[in-house]
Amino acid sequence: MEPKKEAEKLIHEVEIEKGITLDDEFRERLKNEIAEKIKTEIERRKKEVEEKVEEEYFVRFSLNIRLQHLTLAIGVLLLIITGLPIKFHESKWAELFFEVIGGIQVSRILHRVGAGMLIFVSIWHTIYIAFTKEGRKEFRELLPRKKDFLDFWQNIKYMLGKTNERPKYGRYSYIEKFDYWAVYWGMVIMVLSGLILWFHNFFLGIFPKFVFDIAKEAHSDEAMLATLAIVIWHWYNAHFNPHVFPFNPTIFTGKISKERMIKEHPLEYEKIMREKLMKEEKSDEK
Ligand code: HEM
Repeated sequence: MEPKKEAEKLIHEVEIEKGITLDDEFRERLKNEIAEKIKTEIERRKKEVEEKVEEEYFVRFSLNIRLQHLTLAIGVLLLIITGLPIKFHESKWAELFFEVIGGIQVSRILHRVGAGMLIFVSIWHTIYIAFTKEGRKEFRELLPRKKDFLDFWQNIKYMLGKTNERPKYGRYSYIEKFDYWAVYWGMVIMVLSGLILWFHNFFLGIFPKFVFDIAKEAHSDEAMLATLAIVIWHWYNAHFNPHVFPFNPTIFTGKISKERMIKEHPLEYEKIMREKLMKEEKSDEK
């Protein structure tokens, strides 16, 4: 109900209860004052709820990281969808695919668009980790450490039921680090071999034909490996595993719930809380 109507109703109820009738001018003033108080109270409660919701979430990924991931995801999906029918062009499903999109030529063009996106995002990411403070920090967090190998071993023991204690991860688990570094390897192979296939006339003028043959084989086989790694390893760990199934929105919204933070990144959670506490203590001292 609107604050003014609510105030009107309240005054009316008091009038009936006490058997009095207020004069119009006083009534109007009282109504405005009560309406104003109701409005302030609503605002206060709204703020309280908003603050509570904010407290329940942590910002995990910046907009820059999210946009990089989105570009990479769209680019790679486009490359898989247009590349696999070229590899299996003799099969029935590939013929059907070409019929739907308007021919193999369209697939070839779209594949080059996807390749452009992949090359673009790799340059973007290199600049990000080399020239921004946030990028350098993220890169350091993603470097493999001795703890990752210990965590891997602990996880194997946990999976085999030899211990009840799961490994405690920081900002990135060894699984996420593996995901990250696998992209470097895949990127180098796919971009190099892809460029040789794309500009074959130029490369055949410089290198013997077997270089082209190796590039074609490497591109074709690594494409299968990359597709399976994304669908089985990456999608399972990021989206389909029982903790987050059916979809994990963090890489799109940038936010992670407090509950998931404590469960999946307990050391990162402890670090953030410690830093927050220290900040508060410092500002109290001032
Ligand atoms: C995850 C990334 C990629 C995947 C999954 C992928 C997949 C594929 C597959 C399966 C083929 C068919 C190979 C065959 O005939 O056996 C292909 C062909 C090709 N790819 Fe890729 N590719 C990727 C990235 C790239 C990149 C980065 C480039 C360029 C820089 C590129 C350029 C090409 C070219 C030029 C062809 C030949 C297509 C044609 O016949 O016109 N690819 N790709």
